[in-house]
Amino acid sequence: MALSNINPTTTQAWKKLHEHFNEIKDVHMKKWFDEAPNRADRFTIKWDDFFVDYSKNRITPETMTLFRELANEVNLSEAIQCYFSGDKINQTENRAVLHTALRASESKEVLLEGNNIIPEVYEVRKRIKRFTNEVVNGEKLGYTGKPFTDIVNIGIGGSDLGPAMVVDSLQFYKNHLTTHFVSNVDGDHVSEIIKKLNPETTLFVIVSKTFTTQETLSNATTIRNWFLKSANETAVSSHFVAVSTNINKVKEFGIDLENIFPMWDWVGGRFSLWSAVGLSISLSIGNDHFESLLLGAQKMDEHFRTETFEFNIPVILAFLSVWYNNFFEVESEAVIPYTQYLNQFTTYLQQAIMESNGKSIDRNGNVVNYQTGTIVWGEPGTNSQHAFFQLIHQGTKLIPADFIGFAKSLHGNKDHQDKLMANFIAQTEALMNGKTKQVVIDELEAGNHSKEKIEKLSPFKVFEGNKPTNTIFIKKLTPESLGKLIAMYEHKIFVQGVIWNIYSYDQFGVELGKQLAGNILNDFDKNHLAKHDASTQNLIDFYKN
Ligand code: F6P
Repeated sequence: MALSNINPTTTQAWKKLHEHFNEIKDVHMKKWFDEAPNRADRFTIKWDDFFVDYSKNRITPETMTLFRELANEVNLSEAIQCYFSGDKINQTENRAVLHTALRASESKEVLLEGNNIIPEVYEVRKRIKRFTNEVVNGEKLGYTGKPFTDIVNIGIGGSDLGPAMVVDSLQFYKNHLTTHFVSNVDGDHVSEIIKKLNPETTLFVIVSKTFTTQETLSNATTIRNWFLKSANETAVSSHFVAVSTNINKVKEFGIDLENIFPMWDWVGGRFSLWSAVGLSISLSIGNDHFESLLLGAQKMDEHFRTETFEFNIPVILAFLSVWYNNFFEVESEAVIPYTQYLNQFTTYLQQAIMESNGKSIDRNGNVVNYQTGTIVWGEPGTNSQHAFFQLIHQGTKLIPADFIGFAKSLHGNKDHQDKLMANFIAQTEALMNGKTKQVVIDELEAGNHSKEKIEKLSPFKVFEGNKPTNTIFIKKLTPESLGKLIAMYEHKIFVQGVIWNIYSYDQFGVELGKQLAGNILNDFDKNHLAKHDASTQNLIDFYKN
C-alpha cells in the first residue's frame, strides 16, 4: 500500500480550519482558561511517565476536532499502518521506512517483501550485546594486550548526531569508557581528538550507511594512518569496526567481515541510532541501558500506533505544529529542554526534522502551494532564558515552543532542582499570561516612581502573552524515557509529512552541494578551472593564493 497523495489544502477540513482560524486568531488564551476550568485537564495527556500539557496553545476543542477531520481526510490511520508494516513509503528511493522494527519485540513479525526481518534485527542486536560486553568487561584487548579506555565514533549526520546526542544525554549512566565523536571534514576536528588518544587503548567505530561519505572516509583514513604510525596492519582488525550497508566498500577499506555490523537500506540515517549505528551508545552506557532506550521507543511506537488521535501524543504535537506553520504562518519552533543533559537534543532534532520535512515537491510531483517543514532551534533552559528568551517574550515573531522537563534530578540536588523546575514552569506561565499594562503601572507605582516616569516606561514592560507552548514533563531522565522522547518526535515528523503530502524519508537536497564540492576540490589541483560563476571563481582564487 502507498501513502495517499492528497493536497491538504483541498480538503474540507482545511477550509474549515481556515474559517476557524479567522475566528479565533486574536483571542487571548487567558480568556479560554477563564471560561473553561477544565481546559488544562482536557488538553493534557498522561501516559506512562509522561505528562504532556498542550493547553497553553491557541486552540479550542473545535481546533482539535477539525484536525482530526483533516487526519481522516488525508488517511492518516492508513498511513500509520503502511509505516509500521514495511510498505515502501519512501517511494522516491523505493524503500520501506522501518526504524520501528529495530526496537520491536522479538516475538513480532515485520514483513518486508514477504520476509520477516525481526530475526536478523535480533541477530545484530545480539552481536552488539556480545561485542559491548567484551569491550566493557575488558575481555577484548588492544594490540598490546591492554583493555580499551576510549571509543571514537567516526561518522556524520545520522551516523553521528543521534549517537552523540544519546551518549551525551545519558552520561549519568556511562561506564568507564571515554567516547569521542569525529564528524567534520575539518582536519582540526580530527586532530584535536587524536591529541587525546592512545592508539593502544582506543577502539574506532566507523559509521556510514553508504560508506561513500567524504567526511567519514577522510576522517577514517586520517585516523588509520595515525594509528599505523604506532601499530602494524595486523592490529587494525582489533581496533577498527564498521557499521554500514555497504559491506564491499568496508572490506575495501581494510576491515574484516567479522568486524562489520550490518544495517539496512530500510533504515534512514537520521532514524538509525536504534541499529548498530548506536554501537557507540551501547559501548558507552552498556548494553542493558541501550536495550532500555530501545524499549522506551517501542513503548512510544505502541502508543502512537494504537492510541486514538484524541489522546495520541505525536499526533497532537504534529497537529499543533501544522496549525502554527500553516495557519499562523510562524517561521520557526523552539525546543527548550530544562536539563543540561539534553544539550545536544535540538541539534539532533534539526537533522531529523529539517532533513525529513524540508521539501517543496508533493507526493504528486507538484510544487506545493503551502508551507512545509519547520525550522527548529533551541538550547537548554535556564541558559536560553538569558540569551534569546527576550525575543520570544516581547519580539514581533510568534515562536511556539516545546518545554521538556524532568521532575527528578539525577544527582538529587533539591535546591537546584527546585530552582530549575520553578523556571521551567514559570516560563510557560509567563509566555501564556504575559503582563498587562495595568499590572506594570501598579508595580511601578509600588516602587514609588514618578507619574511621568511610569507613563514613559510602562509600554516597554508590558508582555502581550498568548505565546504558545507545549510542556512535555517526564518523571526522570532514563534510557527508557529518552527512547520514548526521541520516538515521539520521529512520529511527529511522520504525521506532518503525511499531512503535507511530501516524502519525508529522502534527502536529495543535500546532494548538489556534495557534487559541486567534488568539482571544486578537483579544480584546486588544476591551473585551468572548470567554468564557475564570477563570485565562485573569486572565492577559489582567494583560497588558492
Ligand atoms: O548528507 C546527508 C546524509 O546523507 C544524511 O542523511 C546521513 O545521515 C549522512 O549524510 C551520513 O551518511 P552515511 O551514513 O551514508 O555516511
